[in-house]
Amino acid sequence: MQQTLSIIKPDGVKKGVIGKIIDRFESNGLRVAAIKKVQLSSFDAQAFYGVHQQRSFFNDLVKFMTSGPVVVIVLEGENAVLKNRELMGSTNPKEAKTGTIRADFAESIDANAVHGSDCLENAKMEIEFFFSKREIC
Ligand code: CMP
Repeated sequence: MQQTLSIIKPDGVKKGVIGKIIDRFESNGLRVAAIKKVQLSSFDAQAFYGVHQQRSFFNDLVKFMTSGPVVVIVLEGENAVLKNRELMGSTNPKEAKTGTIRADFAESIDANAVHGSDCLENAKMEIEFFFSKREIC
């Protein structure tokens, strides 16, 4: 059993596809162990994406992630980290496989509907960034 962090980004929230995206998780064996809607500050987004600080897209990423509320979710299930990444599809929706979340709901590499932890170690850090122990059940 693993836990991983998913974020439904501002574009997904604005489009009104929160339920449709969660359905992809639940229909594929990932349980919602925690969930909340959050408006990130620039400070939050800079800290969360700190690993990308030197990348050319960092400022745009922070601007986009603070452009509206996001929904943060702890997903739990067998092989949750990899399963979530498979369900999301490639970072660039133009390269995402048919039937993946990004192929179906994302517009661009910036507005790409969802974020998902890329490994178990980062999943633990990302979950701790957003949730206290008592919120996860
Ligand atoms: P995410 O999984 O949230 O992790 C970092 C985000 O940066 C990524 O999804 C994309 O939305 C965004 N991004 C913008 N440009 C790039 C790029 N060239 N490579 C990777 N990620 C990018």
